[in-house]
Amino acid sequence: MEFQKMKNILLLGSGGRECALAWKLSHSPLCGKFYIAPGNAGTEAYGINLPVSYNDFEGIKKACIDYKIDILFPGPEDPLVAGIYDFCKNDPSLRHIIVVGPSKDGAQLEGSKAWSKKFMERHNIPTAAYKEFSAGSFEQGVAYIKRSELPIVIKADGLAAGKGVVIAQNTVEAVKAFRAMVMNEQFGDAGKNVVIEQFLDGIELSVFAFTDGTNYVLLPEAKDYKRVGEGDTGLNTGGMGAISPVPFADDVFMQKVTQRIIEPTVKGLKDEGIIYHGFIFFGLIKVKGEPYVIEYNCRLGDPETEVVIPRLENDLVELIQKMQDGKLNEVTVKHSPKAAGAVMLVSEGYPGDYPKGRVMTGFEKVRGSLLFHAGTKVSGGDVVTNGGRVIAITSYGDDIKLALEKSYENAALVQYEGRYYRKDIGFEF
Ligand code: AMP
Ligand code: GLY
Repeated sequence: MEFQKMKNILLLGSGGRECALAWKLSHSPLCGKFYIAPGNAGTEAYGINLPVSYNDFEGIKKACIDYKIDILFPGPEDPLVAGIYDFCKNDPSLRHIIVVGPSKDGAQLEGSKAWSKKFMERHNIPTAAYKEFSAGSFEQGVAYIKRSELPIVIKADGLAAGKGVVIAQNTVEAVKAFRAMVMNEQFGDAGKNVVIEQFLDGIELSVFAFTDGTNYVLLPEAKDYKRVGEGDTGLNTGGMGAISPVPFADDVFMQKVTQRIIEPTVKGLKDEGIIYHGFIFFGLIKVKGEPYVIEYNCRLGDPETEVVIPRLENDLVELIQKMQDGKLNEVTVKHSPKAAGAVMLVSEGYPGDYPKGRVMTGFEKVRGSLLFHAGTKVSGGDVVTNGGRVIAITSYGDDIKLALEKSYENAALVQYEGRYYRKDIGFEF
């Protein structure tokens, strides 16, 4: 490796994704001082947690200046959608910082479902048929629902913390969800506009590209398990576990994904003059062998990151530098031949209300897995639960089954009152 200056890094976020990123970044020989804002009990092992919210741009600015930050890495979507990239580039004291993520314009891929659907239409990227409605076109929306096939999908346009999507099995349910969004402001401004789209029946996976705006590299693909209950039942969660690689993402399928989805997306952003340096998360569905985009995100996934990052063999800081230099075409990404499986331990009641502050024990008994803390914090010398998703337990294996067996062995050892986890992650393979 040619000589490069070590970089001081500030990572924003406090979930399992950020813990996995902290693990990876902090092990890079190019990582200088490393900070996480606000972080969790796990990220403390890799850097210094700062008591700054990831939405507090002034607090982030101060930290960037005080700690001479070279790389700012927003983990979650909120700061990206709110324009942290533009905030840095418009400020003479922050302009030199490498921001790992798109401009506010680019973040609309995730920040506005209507915008992303129009983008896909402009670039001929396969996705479910849709129409956009608002309070002013409520009657037309109802008529559209009535003449559409069931089930039908109702989506709030803006960020709604993963709760803005309703898959309605009948017209009454669909109209009720639509009305709640546009007339009763269920999601505030995020639901002022609504996308109503065709239901796609298939199997989902997550694909991640890392782009410098012209070139891109692909990270290992992953599949997450969104439902709280075994057999994919019950409420949607942030994700109860993940696997990588994805057995049904064979070469032929990935070729289609690359040609029909990834390349037109990267080129489309560039052709439209949208600044996008960072991760593009393609939420895809395979329907009868063909890929469609369900959604874009402007960041990495959680819990996908907890299996994707362990399988990425390249130095992440070096990749970020290549992104900054517009030279990702010079990089060959190496994916570990090992499989990885992550099991998420959650709090009782999640994704509804859940208790916090439950003392966690048993970490020292864990052997052969990576522990990526999510909702945890240190309190009075103990590690206690501090969120719905508490900790991801990731293991490598020669195949997914072996990786998950190891994760489950260790999941049983990390204890706290009200612990719950799905026992069937990866069960279908
Ligand atoms: P989104 O926030 O757009 O990712 O939607 C959340 C989840 O709803 C997705 O991961 C899918 O499981 C499901 N979903 C969203 N849109 C569709 C669709 N058009 N057809 C089938 N399932 C969908
Ligand atoms: N696991 C899905 C997401 O991060 O949005």
